Amino acid sequence: MDYSEPRRDFLKKLGLAGATFSAASLMDPVYAAELKGELKKIKHLSPEDAAQDEGFWRFIQQSYTVSATLTNLNNGGVSPQPKVVQDAFERFNRLCNEAPSYYMWRVLDKGREPIRQKLAHLAGCDPEEIAINRNTTEALETIIFGLNLEEGDEIVLSKYDYPNMMNSWKQREKRDGIVLKFIDLDMPMEDDKVIVKRYETAFTSKTKIVHITHMINYTGQILPAKAITAAAHKKGIEVILDGAHTFAHIEYNLKDINCDYFGTSLHKWLCAPFGTGFMFVRKEKIASMWTMFSNDNPKSDDIRKFEVLGTRSFPTEQGIGKAFDFHQSIGGKRKEERLRYLKNYWANQVKDLPKVKLYTSFDPKYSCALCTFGIEGMEPGDINAYLFDKYKIHTTPINHEAVHGVRVTPHVYTTLYDLDRLVKAIKEMAA
Ligand SMILES: Cc1ncc(COP(=O)(O)O)c(C=O)c1O
Repeated sequence: MDYSEPRRDFLKKLGLAGATFSAASLMDPVYAAELKGELKKIKHLSPEDAAQDEGFWRFIQQSYTVSATLTNLNNGGVSPQPKVVQDAFERFNRLCNEAPSYYMWRVLDKGREPIRQKLAHLAGCDPEEIAINRNTTEALETIIFGLNLEEGDEIVLSKYDYPNMMNSWKQREKRDGIVLKFIDLDMPMEDDKVIVKRYETAFTSKTKIVHITHMINYTGQILPAKAITAAAHKKGIEVILDGAHTFAHIEYNLKDINCDYFGTSLHKWLCAPFGTGFMFVRKEKIASMWTMFSNDNPKSDDIRKFEVLGTRSFPTEQGIGKAFDFHQSIGGKRKEERLRYLKNYWANQVKDLPKVKLYTSFDPKYSCALCTFGIEGMEPGDINAYLFDKYKIHTTPINHEAVHGVRVTPHVYTTLYDLDRLVKAIKEMAA
């Protein structure tokens, strides 16, 4: 089966071969014009300066429909969608309900190729290396279970990798007799050489794969994926990168990092509909990788072999397009700088309080929006409960390895007012 040709023809007819984006591509014309006006006002500013232009970010905040009474500072878990994305999803959903099999399989199915192109544009890879699916878990488990590994082959991973991925590896350990080597990390770490060394010391002649979490969910620690990949490749070891927290959060590109496999979720930092993600497999590795769900040509080198998933939510998938347009309108670098600014805004105000411990770096190379703090004498659950009971601030408690605290994750719609309330609460707890 050739998974690609009919769609390519369709695209050519529609003239959608290239990834297109601008504020104008957001559906609501009034909103698009207003956004364009706001963007014009900050055009002359560097991303760092634009990060502090509260007028612009107030407009972005109004683009969301978030609660006015609950302050959500757990955007690292899953993020809300701007209204344009919700509208697109609802429009597609209504269309599908007019005649599901017709609109889903004959109309919206054709929209997958432009989405693939947009994602490849953001990821910095070839669209032929991207398979769209539901989330990082599906992406990375497809990769972990699809690799050809033999008894005795070694996998290097860290104690701070995500539980779903660790569990997949442990299942392969039980089933296939592969050997897992866990390295330890400190939180935070601020020296590439030291981090790379931790991984390198675990490499042996039997190591086949190194599994790297690009941004560690427990603390927001960014790992030097490019340097670890280079060290692994020198020894012929392949690299899987968990990009759940970095995609559309910090700027990078997969060609530059040079990893072999990658997975991410789009309902986190891209603010796409819930249940969207993708996997990347380097072109020359596609043919030898097994799919999770069978298809008529498992040895095909067409990335679409990973998309034979049966019936799924097409409105959800198509909503990714508008999330991409919204993200591009803000600008990736501007967004990254705003997120870092928000984290530094609150964290700087509490970092020197005697009882407060930060598990996250201030160095932009090693952190962005996610930041975890602990308070001496308080359990993570108690800190979390205090924030919610007294301030209706929603966060997530972290109790993992050496990290005992609460993770705070603002997003582009978070206001300084929200963060001032967080700072006030932390000061009360630390007093
Ligand atoms: C590092 C990391 N990997 C993978 C995942 C799984 O993401 P999802 O639930 O979207 O599959 C998460 C979720 O928070 C994560 O933090």
